[in-house]
Amino acid sequence: MTSETQSQRLRLGVNIDHVATIRNARGGVHPDVLRAAHLAADAGADGITAHLREDRRHIRDSDIDRLMSEISLPLNLEMAATEEMLAIALRHRPHAACLVPERRQERTTEGGLDVVGGYDHLAPIVGRLNDAGVRVSLFIAPDRAQLDAARRIGAPVVELHTGRYADAENAAELEAELARLTEAAAHAGQIGLECHAGHGLRFDNVVPVAALPQVRELNIGHFLVGEAVFVGLEAAIRQMRALMDQARPAGAHSTGTAAS
Ligand code: PXP
Repeated sequence: MTSETQSQRLRLGVNIDHVATIRNARGGVHPDVLRAAHLAADAGADGITAHLREDRRHIRDSDIDRLMSEISLPLNLEMAATEEMLAIALRHRPHAACLVPERRQERTTEGGLDVVGGYDHLAPIVGRLNDAGVRVSLFIAPDRAQLDAARRIGAPVVELHTGRYADAENAAELEAELARLTEAAAHAGQIGLECHAGHGLRFDNVVPVAALPQVRELNIGHFLVGEAVFVGLEAAIRQMRALMDQARPAGAHSTGTAAS
């Protein structure tokens, strides 16, 4: 694969939070998130995603220390827009930081980060991460106003929240949510934002999202860890990777997004 083709490939970020959820259910060290990260790399993941929540319900500070020092894949640190998390991100300087809402008042009705309403709070955090060379992504609903605010605030990347698409209860809802994602991805491309997507993606719903030409990266966790119970983590990731590749033959991508 040439480096150009590689750079155009739809990237898969494997979210390992729920490996930590299982570990924490019993305490101790098993299953080890680092082992999961190494397996994900072997299975074709392009990055590892981990959400250090304020309550540390799955990933812990020591996991971030180890992921930063022991894995070769880029780490995408999902974090709330708080001073505590900012200090951790600035200390580690991961490849990317995805700002996510953790408190109800930080959310839009769709569950993404409210960049419009929280602009003044978010702007300095985005600025400080940018200055530190951390690639900032904002996890937002597929909504034009939120995209425009993300652009204004200076984030190079947005991650479109696919939760409503994933939770659609019938074909009409699914179609409507996919239309919103399609329109939002196109708008992101037009205004120069790199577009990612994630939340609730599974084998049965990933292909239409992976086929959106502006989407450059998918972040997928819960389903893969659940499926790993039945087929193993590597096999689950390889199958997801194959579905993504099937949706996006090599070279099928849109220009007009910021380079990663
Ligand atoms: N992207 C973001 C920003 C998330 O917060 C999550 C959930 O942690 C995911 C992607 C992955 O979602 P899921 O675990 O449902 O695949």
